[in-house]
Amino acid sequence: MYLTRDEERIIAGEFGEGMRKALEILVAIGKIYGAERLIPISSAHISGVSYHNIREGIDFLRELASEAKVSVKTTLNPGGMDIYRWREMGIDEEFAAKQREVIDIYREMGINITLTCTPYHVGNLPSKGEHVAWGESSAVAYINSVVGAMTNRESGISALAAAIIGKTPHYGMHIKEERAPMIRVRVNMDLVDPSDYGALGFVLSKKVDDKIPLIEGLEDVDDEGLKLLSASMGTYTGLPIYHIKGITPEAADFDAPREVIEIDAQDMKEAYEYLNEAFEDVDLVWIGCPHSNLEELRRIAERLKSKTIKTELWVTTSRKVLSEAERRGYIKVIEGSGAKVICDTCVAVAPLKHRFKTLVTNSAKGCYYGRGVNKFLVKVVSLDKCIEVALRGGWV
Ligand code: F3S
Repeated sequence: MYLTRDEERIIAGEFGEGMRKALEILVAIGKIYGAERLIPISSAHISGVSYHNIREGIDFLRELASEAKVSVKTTLNPGGMDIYRWREMGIDEEFAAKQREVIDIYREMGINITLTCTPYHVGNLPSKGEHVAWGESSAVAYINSVVGAMTNRESGISALAAAIIGKTPHYGMHIKEERAPMIRVRVNMDLVDPSDYGALGFVLSKKVDDKIPLIEGLEDVDDEGLKLLSASMGTYTGLPIYHIKGITPEAADFDAPREVIEIDAQDMKEAYEYLNEAFEDVDLVWIGCPHSNLEELRRIAERLKSKTIKTELWVTTSRKVLSEAERRGYIKVIEGSGAKVICDTCVAVAPLKHRFKTLVTNSAKGCYYGRGVNKFLVKVVSLDKCIEVALRGGWV
């Protein structure tokens, strides 16, 4: 792999241990993926922030923070708790202390403590063609596919190394041709609710065989649908990019693939059958995976106005969106119903395994992690149905 004179000096340790370690990580990754050089990035987004996932990795982070700072705009994924309301979430003192320490370490490195999986809603929004190094599969799929920025699907550590050096290895999604669609997908039905886009991501994981899809028939999708589709694609297909005709900025730059498949109502029905398990007592209703935008909070407030919920309803969002929603009066209405609007975290990365047994959500990604990480029984339904269940206090 070609290194510039300055990069060689970094590897030789002339700029300190932290820079040397970070560059060695990038070079090792570059060699694995056949990158010929490093390219500059304009921003980074760091995932793997919950102490629940980091555990003993905290020692490495602490050491790195004493040796190096980030050199580009860098934001942070959700951690394991709301930094103010962790007691209401049932988080214990010991976990809270460790989570605060993790956040302090990232702050010391110069990282913007956004604690959200929607950094593109809180001021980290690259432009089309901009090279960045982001972790968090939902955000990666969103900015590659909706914004047209260029990032591989980074791990927490590779995104952090890239943030310190300000560069990333040139391979994969940083190369235009690698982003080309390989299979055309015709969606032959109307997707009615944003949650349907999450279910569609699950359907695609069974149909596209790891090929980047060019999806036709979704021209009316809104930001909520794109967020839920990106989260589901990142989770179930593992692909860092998809194209939607009429939406993805570079979709028209490529020839349409010859191979064509169709998605119909039966495929969606089967997806919802998979995403819905049988149970009646509901412990928790969760909206906000990925973190809710302002429009979702407006809709939730509209539906909860002057009502009282009968089961736990948590809405997860970013602090920036929360403060705008507070200004517009949405939060007062939502919390007036007994629901909680929680920031800095989500149900998947918080240590909630034994707190709840059953979960109703509008997010297919939330279903995957609710089942996988927290061992919940899960149902995926529309946002309206989530609220109906919370108001009724159960499924039936
Ligand atoms: Fe975000 Fe957590 Fe969902 S990080 S995408 S709310 S699983």
